[in-house]
Amino acid sequence: MNEEQRKKQTVNEKETYAADKKSGQEKDFSQYFQTTYVPPNLKQAKKRGKENVEIHYDFEVPESMRETGKGKKFLIRTYGCQMNEHDSENMAGILLDMGFESTASTDDADVILLNTCAIRENAENKVFGEIGHLKTMKRERPELIIGVCGCMSQEESVVNKIMQKHQQVDLIFGTHNIHRLPHLMRDAILSKEMVIEVWSKEGDIIESMPRARKGQIQGWVNIMYGCDKFCTYCIVPYTRGKERSRRPEDIIEEVRHLARNGYKEITLLGQNVNAYGKDLADMNYGLGDLMDEIRKIDIPRVRFTTSHPRDFDDHLIEVLAKGGNLVEHIHLPVQSGNNEVLKLMARKYTRESYIELAGRIKKAMPHASFTTDIIVGFPNETEEQFEDTLSLVKEMEYDSCFTYIYSPRDGTPAAKMEDNVPHEVKRDRLRRLNEMVNDLSAKKNKAVEGKIMEVLVEGESKKDPEVLAGRTRTNRLVNFKAPKSCIGELIHVKITEAKTWSLNGQVVETAEVK
Ligand code: SAH
Ligand code: SF4
Ligand code: F3S
Repeated sequence: MNEEQRKKQTVNEKETYAADKKSGQEKDFSQYFQTTYVPPNLKQAKKRGKENVEIHYDFEVPESMRETGKGKKFLIRTYGCQMNEHDSENMAGILLDMGFESTASTDDADVILLNTCAIRENAENKVFGEIGHLKTMKRERPELIIGVCGCMSQEESVVNKIMQKHQQVDLIFGTHNIHRLPHLMRDAILSKEMVIEVWSKEGDIIESMPRARKGQIQGWVNIMYGCDKFCTYCIVPYTRGKERSRRPEDIIEEVRHLARNGYKEITLLGQNVNAYGKDLADMNYGLGDLMDEIRKIDIPRVRFTTSHPRDFDDHLIEVLAKGGNLVEHIHLPVQSGNNEVLKLMARKYTRESYIELAGRIKKAMPHASFTTDIIVGFPNETEEQFEDTLSLVKEMEYDSCFTYIYSPRDGTPAAKMEDNVPHEVKRDRLRRLNEMVNDLSAKKNKAVEGKIMEVLVEGESKKDPEVLAGRTRTNRLVNFKAPKSCIGELIHVKITEAKTWSLNGQVVETAEVK
């Protein structure tokens, strides 16, 4: 079908839809649009098959599309977790290879992509707010291309809502379709009808996608895709597909490349990095083995996130205890301190086994700092069950915690559970939990006053451009005065004042680090 015919068909489809709607006989919106329409399907996304995952090393933007973006600029807004930040760097790389330039201003942009997060309702509301704002801009500049990608686009409810209420959107593509961006972008520019391509089943692993990294100090290194844990509250296994590990040699090559290019810190990424390697059928190789090899690469700091407590094995602990560039910070999401709630969440560990694991890690790494994620107000959570979470936080003495009110996600088992806890009670529990978490952070920060700590200088502080900010190996934020030339360097800072969420300090010359 040529462009003219496609346009005509779309007009017909839109007219049929409008007529049916008027007479109250409208069918599901998707049935009206056959042109470029591959919608998501959460039920399909839940299935885990045995099909082989192929790895492709030959991705490149086709020659015929290398000038598609000539004279045009793009802007990518990234919401959600580090995985989305990582994906945005790939999308930016692809768009640059298509001849687009990047811009930081919406007024300048010819293409705006929203890389979205579906983890909680408020994350989704933020994106819909932004889509609403862009409506006026699209009216003034009809040639502007607005795209929605990331985890929200994997949900049929979101895609239906965009199609019904936000016709200003030109392009929707899913987390498994990033390598299709050249074709999809070209279609979106040419046809001006809404292009939708969201594969619900994960595809292969695409190595060698172009990459425009955001910084030159810290780099994300994805080690695996997807999640098979299916915690009952969580949408991620549906939006990111089954667990697929990258080959160790590809990861190591990427880390070496970053080291050669002067990066000072890498973060190994995955939804559940402790499951790394389980799907590599031809080798018995896990996260511990990978870290043991990365340890030998000349890069000052190596982090990893996120760990699921269930798969944290002794070999990994043994390797982490070797220290060196493997920093002593463990992000170990616990979610709840109560065994019944943990069971309903399908986390598959108990309060006791979590504490026991943390004990083993602390024994091997006495200076390790722990951080966590906690959900309050899971369906029917009682006051006593919540207090178990409080007591666990107290016992664990976390350096910091990310705390959330439970948000039902359509399609997950927990969303079907009845819930007798009023929202005000949940809000109050969050407030009480945060109070405890903040007190603990302040106390932990106080304890390092007077110490000299190694800090990787990340840049100007957000509040005051005269002040620089950086992080310790244990991921504490430190503010201090120093020349801008220090940015990107590892320096030593004496901690002079502890705040609740950060430390103030003074640069010192020597390395008598305590
Ligand atoms: N893969 C990571 C977590 C990714 S999501 C892990 O398992 O640790 C980050 C955090 O968001 C989770 O740890 C959890 O605390 C929170 N979260 C996930 N789903 C949620 C929901 N439906 N409502 C509220 N918080 C949620
Ligand atoms: Fe979600 Fe659980 Fe997977 Fe983390 S491990 S992404 S919380 S299902
Ligand atoms: Fe959000 Fe998707 Fe990450 S739901 S937290 S962006 S994996």
